[in-house]
Amino acid sequence: MTEAGETLISFEEVYKIFGPNPRGRAFELSQGGMHKDEVQRQTGHVVGITDVSFEVKKGEIFVVMGLSGSGKSTAIRTVNKLHDVTHGRVVVEGTDVQQLEGPALQQFRREKMGMVFQHFALFPHRNIWENTSYGLKVQGMEKKERRKKAMEALSMVGLEAYAFNAVRELSGGMQQRVGLARALCSDPDILLMDEAFSALDPLIRRQMQDELLAIQEKLHKTILFITHDLNEALRICNRVCILRDGYVVQIGTAEEILTQPADGYVAEFVQDVDQGRVIDVASMVNPPAIIDPGSTLVAAVDSLGDRQGGFVVDADGRPTGLLHVGAASSALAHGTTALADVLQTDFETTTMEARLNHNYAAAGRGLPIAVIDEAGRLVGELEPREIMEEMGRVEELVDGFEREKFL
Ligand SMILES: Nc1ncnc2c1ncn2[C@@H]1O[C@H](COP(=O)(O)OP(=O)(O)O)[C@@H](O)[C@H]1O
Ligand SMILES: [Mg+2]
Repeated sequence: MTEAGETLISFEEVYKIFGPNPRGRAFELSQGGMHKDEVQRQTGHVVGITDVSFEVKKGEIFVVMGLSGSGKSTAIRTVNKLHDVTHGRVVVEGTDVQQLEGPALQQFRREKMGMVFQHFALFPHRNIWENTSYGLKVQGMEKKERRKKAMEALSMVGLEAYAFNAVRELSGGMQQRVGLARALCSDPDILLMDEAFSALDPLIRRQMQDELLAIQEKLHKTILFITHDLNEALRICNRVCILRDGYVVQIGTAEEILTQPADGYVAEFVQDVDQGRVIDVASMVNPPAIIDPGSTLVAAVDSLGDRQGGFVVDADGRPTGLLHVGAASSALAHGTTALADVLQTDFETTTMEARLNHNYAAAGRGLPIAVIDEAGRLVGELEPREIMEEMGRVEELVDGFEREKFL
């Protein structure tokens, strides 16, 4: 058994080169840092992946993300030796995959991992549960036991009611669920998912992402997930590895990728992403500015310094009113001096664990947001200006990169 936090899959300086003499000059050139296009021009060999190293921890959803042709499928296919590696090692639970042959390799694939592809074929003449448990049939499991396992896997993906339906009665999204159920059916430690949701339309795709996360919460598999979509990657990953032209550009958590993109290439990707989805409120929170309800409006505004707002709280520390500096200034200009006249009761609240996307709208209106704990007590405040700045930061990074490129 492996412990949590332990490495389950490791890539150690892995190269995969396609062509008649993969370990020859093409490898040398690639190892020397030459771009794959130039290697191909000089040697006629295609570099699939070059010097790829990463570790996938037990229980982690590790996403490999990159554009088409960046080497994602090549990489995932070395994990179950659908591809040999040209150089380096892929190690799964202490086993050097390259060394496996014949029946040992088959057993390794069957017992250790389930695979889900973008396109996979269901047997049209078998019903859903039979399709789901087909791998177990191959292993010689008896029908009753197989059906039990299939039903469990199907209920995991919300398809138990369809177990006896024919394949043609299922939509594309449902068929993809069967693919996932089939991978889960033998209860492998590892799931390998290559663009498994990429062919689905956006709504169904999001549902599948949510379901994968829910399943993961229950089963704690180790998932190597491939996608060309950074939004999807950041949404479901514990960590993501970004590939470009076969090499690793950056490995990190969603937040690290968004806030510290390794270079302009990553920053350009990041620009397309709705950042609030992955940045925690906790990383942007300020201590609460608490206003004395007995003070005058002028004194209250003064007490806020350069904050855009503060809150009045009740005896239990729960926020009851927001003083927004903008509103206060215009009230003062109109001769209002009573604090109570300017306090707003319709303010937004959020929690430390929430993500910033829940707070866009209020931030966009310039309103401070109350951060509260489980008891509803004020524990912090989000400044709208800071949220908007954080959102704009990565765009600037990209702008800077664009300028550099053309200088
Ligand atoms: N069997 C193969 N023979 C030759 N070249 C290949 C083969 N498989 C992949 N490649 C090349 O390797 C590179 C990476 O491909 P792939 O891993 O399929 O990328 P991705 O999955 O990220 O779209 C591409 O340049 C592709 O053309
Ligand atoms: Mg691919």
